[in-house]
Amino acid sequence: KMNQFITALMQKMTLEEKIGQLNLPSVGFDVTGPILSQGVEDKIKKGLVGGVFNTYTPVAVRKLQDIAVNETRLKIPLLFGYDVIHGHRTIFPIPLGLSATWDPKLVERTARAAADEATADGLNWAYSPMVDIARDPRWGRVSEGAGEDPWLGSQMARAMVKGYQGTDYVHDNTLLACVKHFALYGAAEAGRDYNTVDMSRVKMYNEYLPPYKAAIDAGVATVMTSFNEIDGIPATANKWLLTDLLRKQWGFKGMIVTDYTAINEMMAHGMGDAKKVGELSLNAGVDMDMVGEIFLNYGADLVKSGKVSQAVIDAACRRVLEQKYKLGLFDDPYRYVNEARNKTAIMNAEKILLSKEAAIKSMVLLKNANQALPLNAAKKIAFIGPLVKDQRNLIGNWSGAGDYKKAVSIWAALEQKFGADKFLYAKGCNLVDDAGLRKRLNDHDGQIVPDEKTPDQLIAEAVQTAQQADVVVAVLGEAFGMTGEAASRSMIGLLDNQVELLKALKKTGKPIVLVLMNGRPLTLSWEDQNMEAILETWFGGTQAGPAIADVLFGEANPSGKLSMTFPRNVGQVPIYYNAKNTGRPYDENQKYTSKYLDVPNSPLYPFGHGLSYTTFGYGDIKLSKTSITPADKLQVTVNVTNTGNVEGEETVQLYIRDLVGSITRPVKQLRRFEKVTLKKGESREVSFTLTVEDLKFFNSDLKWVAEPGDFHVFVGTNSQEVKQAAFSLK
Ligand code: IFM
Repeated sequence: KMNQFITALMQKMTLEEKIGQLNLPSVGFDVTGPILSQGVEDKIKKGLVGGVFNTYTPVAVRKLQDIAVNETRLKIPLLFGYDVIHGHRTIFPIPLGLSATWDPKLVERTARAAADEATADGLNWAYSPMVDIARDPRWGRVSEGAGEDPWLGSQMARAMVKGYQGTDYVHDNTLLACVKHFALYGAAEAGRDYNTVDMSRVKMYNEYLPPYKAAIDAGVATVMTSFNEIDGIPATANKWLLTDLLRKQWGFKGMIVTDYTAINEMMAHGMGDAKKVGELSLNAGVDMDMVGEIFLNYGADLVKSGKVSQAVIDAACRRVLEQKYKLGLFDDPYRYVNEARNKTAIMNAEKILLSKEAAIKSMVLLKNANQALPLNAAKKIAFIGPLVKDQRNLIGNWSGAGDYKKAVSIWAALEQKFGADKFLYAKGCNLVDDAGLRKRLNDHDGQIVPDEKTPDQLIAEAVQTAQQADVVVAVLGEAFGMTGEAASRSMIGLLDNQVELLKALKKTGKPIVLVLMNGRPLTLSWEDQNMEAILETWFGGTQAGPAIADVLFGEANPSGKLSMTFPRNVGQVPIYYNAKNTGRPYDENQKYTSKYLDVPNSPLYPFGHGLSYTTFGYGDIKLSKTSITPADKLQVTVNVTNTGNVEGEETVQLYIRDLVGSITRPVKQLRRFEKVTLKKGESREVSFTLTVEDLKFFNSDLKWVAEPGDFHVFVGTNSQEVKQAAFSLK
C-alpha cells in the first residue's frame, strides 16, 4: 500500500519537487555551522523543502505545516527534526552520564519520555542516539555518547532507539530516531573535533561499528553521516560506507541525512567544487542534505548532465516519503501538533521523577576515603564553589529545548530538604577565570561572567567559610560549553583557578568532598590524592540538585560505573580497557617493555569503576564446563555479597579474553553485566550464560568467526578488579 501510494505521488512530482524533498533547512537559533538557512517559508511554498529542524511547539510547527499542506502544489507534509539528545524539555543527565547507569531499561525510559515530550511539541524526528565510540576524552563530544566500549555502547544504542521509536511508527508519541554520526566520528585524531580519522577495517568492524549496527538491527529509521573521512573519503561521499556496508551488507532500508552542511564541507576537504561534492554524495547514497542546499542548487543540473541518474534521485525521494508515510503524516499532517497533549506531557511529575532517578543512577563515586560520604547533616558543612547555586550548567550541552531556569540547583535542593541557613556557603572562584577561554566559549547566557570580587577575595572568603566547618563540599567542574561539539580540550583537568581554590581549602586541614560536574573524563591525580571523596555527577539534568543532595546525605546510594576510562594525565590518551597486549607488555624488571617513564600504564579510574556506600565481595568463578563446543552454552556463576553496612546496588561485570587468535585480541572485552541490589550481609549467585556468539570477532577477511582455543573469563566490580577462570572452545 505504501509503495503504491508513493509511486502514484511521485508520478505527479517534477524533478525539482523531488529534489525539494531532499532539502532540510534549519529554522531557528540552534546554529552549529557557518551557514544559515534563508527564505525557508518561501521555499516551502515552492515545494522545495522536505523537512525542517530547530523549530518546535505546536504553534510554530502548525504554521510551517500549514504552508506545506495548504499552499504547495502537492500538499506533501514536512518532517520536523530536532536535537533531542538527553531529554527534550525535561532534561536527563548527558548521555555519557546515562551510560554510566549501565541500565539500558532506564535509558530506554528516558528516551521514551523525551519522545513523549518532543512529539507533544510538534516534533517527529530526533537526531539521537549518538553512538560514536570515544576513547579520547579531549574530544568534547564524548559527553554525547556512551563511552569507549562497543558492547555497552550497543546496549545503549538499542535502548535509545527502542525508547524513541517504540514498536511501531504510527503512534502519536513516538518519533523517528537517527543514529549518528556514521561513522567513526569519535576517532578524530588528537581528539580535535572534525579532524581526520584513519583506521584499519579490522579495528573498525570489531571496535567502532558495533553500536551503529546495533541501532540498525533495532530498526532505527534514519542515519546521519559524519563529518570525518574514512579511507580518505568523507563519510558523506563514501559509497562503500553508505551503500555497500550500510544498505547492502546491513540491510538498512531507512533514510540517510547528512550532518549540518557536511556536503558543502567536502569542498574544504578537497573533494571538488559544489557541484562535484553534490554528485559524490548523491551517488554515495545520501538522501537528505542538511542546511547546505547543494542538492537544491545543483541536483537538477546533475541529473540533466547525466552525472547523477534519475533513479538515484527517485530512490532518495522515495526514502524521504516513506518516512513521512510511516509516521502517518499523509493521513494526518498534524499528528504531532497536539496542543492538549502539549499541556499534559511536558515536564509532568512522572518525567521530573524520572529525571531525578536517572541523575542518581548516573553518579559515580570515584573515591570515598574514611567514609567521608554520606555526609552527616548534624555536622557543620560548608558548600563551596561556583556550581553550588548554579542552574545553567546542570542541564549540560545539547540540552535542546530544556530550560535551565527549571533546573534545581544543589543549593535550592538543600534548602528544600533542610530549610534555609542550615549550611555555610562561599562561591570560592569563578567557574572560568581565563578570559581567552571565556571568549571561545561564546557565552550567550552570560553564565560565566567573572564575579565582581577578585579571585583572591573569593578564595579568602572560601577559606574563612571552610574554617568554620567540619567538612567542606567543593562543587567544581567544567562549564557546560567546555564539552560538546567544537569543544575539544588539550588539557582535561580542572581549570587552574579551581585547583588553586582546592589547594587553599586543603590547607585548612578540613576534609574535602569534591562534587564534580563535567562532560568528559578529567585528569584528577592531584584531587585523588588530596580529596577525601570524589563524586562524579556529570551534568545531571533538570533534577541534578535534588539527586546530588540525596546522594550526599545517603538517602540514595551511588551505583554508577564509568563507561570511559579516567586517565592519570593527558599523555596517556588514548587509554581504554580493551587494549591489545603488545609483544612487550610492561614488566617492571625489564627496560624494553611498553611503558612510560613518568606515569604508570594504568589509568586513575578504570572502565567499569564506581564505588558504593557499601562494599561487595566476590566469590570465585564457577564454570558449568571448562571445555565447550560451538553448540554448548557456558554458565559462569559467582557469588556476590554485600559486605558493608547498608543496602546497595552493584553492577557485576563479565569480561572475556581470547588468548590466541588469527589476529591479536584485546586483553579484555565486556560481554555481560547484571545489576543486583543486595541488603546488608546478603549474598546472591549471579549467573551468566555465554554462547559461541560471545567469542566471535571479525578476522582479517572481515569474517565473523569464533576460533577454537583457550579463553579467560573474568567477573568483577570493574574492568581491573576481577576474578578469573579459564575454558576452551573446541
Ligand atoms: O545533530 C547535529 C549533529 O550532531 C551535529 N551537527 C548539527 C546537527 C543538527 O543540529
